[in-house]
Amino acid sequence: MERNLSLDFVRVTESAAISASKWMGKGDEKSADRAAVEEMRARFNMMDIKGRIVIGEGERDEAPMLFIGEEVGNGKGPAFDIAVDPLEGTTITALGGNNAISVLAAGPKGSLLNAPDIYMDKIAVGPDARGVIDIDADVEENLKAVAKATGKPLEEVTAIILDRERHAELIKKVRKVGCRIRLIRDGDIAGAIAAVMPGTGVDILLGVGGAPEGVISAVAVKCLGGEMQARLVPRNDADVERAKKMGIEDINRKLLIEDLAKGSNLVFAATGVTDGTILRGVNFTSFGCMTHSVVMRVKSGTVRFIEARHVFKD
Ligand code: FBP
Repeated sequence: MERNLSLDFVRVTESAAISASKWMGKGDEKSADRAAVEEMRARFNMMDIKGRIVIGEGERDEAPMLFIGEEVGNGKGPAFDIAVDPLEGTTITALGGNNAISVLAAGPKGSLLNAPDIYMDKIAVGPDARGVIDIDADVEENLKAVAKATGKPLEEVTAIILDRERHAELIKKVRKVGCRIRLIRDGDIAGAIAAVMPGTGVDILLGVGGAPEGVISAVAVKCLGGEMQARLVPRNDADVERAKKMGIEDINRKLLIEDLAKGSNLVFAATGVTDGTILRGVNFTSFGCMTHSVVMRVKSGTVRFIEARHVFKD
């Protein structure tokens, strides 16, 4: 990963976040998402890269832009596989809620799992609890292991979980152990980062979310020195077929972080659209706006927060 490209990747998420945030609180998910996608694509095309979208808005026939397989960049620089979620938290944005982000991850060809747009079970923890979790173990066992590894009393261990009916049993189990839960309405990439980054008050991400979001999260988790494990959760034969089409033969395979995001030449960038645990949202001012982003690289382990002032000129 070219070091100086990190800043270019942040410019991409910044621009997408600014465009999406203009739709904040307007009750229109589609327009917010479209604004982020259009802007992200336009910004990629200003970059000196040969980019290929491996995780995007869907397949070519269902997504007009940033579809899987689409080439982005001006074709002049190094080759990258890119995973994008131009607006993670479309509903959050439409409702003016917390933790919507614009996000991408990039790495060399073949480094990011070509995940189908189906569900994925995920578990992620920070560096202190690396090596002690197992997606196949009981929730109770995992929570106890995290408590021991982080030196926290069990009742202070906090899990972040998507607020979904499918998690009713999981939520019951976590509470039975005595741990705390931060239920989120959407946005499990931001949730994974919160679980892995120190000082957020969250210790573990648990539960089922989107598989594409899982791959992007894995890059962030890797950058932060944490651990993540996952497993695809097909709902029907069509999901199994979709996975096969993308080269995944054994859909039940336990996926380790290296299966999700290979190697160390990986970069992750995200910009807050609305205020969240890690990032502040876009803030419009008299001169333009302020953005808050994070950009991280696995190889160097650098985590940079970037506060930018954007001046709008007419
Ligand atoms: P959007 O980016 O489409 O708003 O998705 C947000 C999200 O909450 C993800 O963070 C999560 O992985 C997924 O949706 C969960 O899917 P579902 O809403 O179907 O439970």
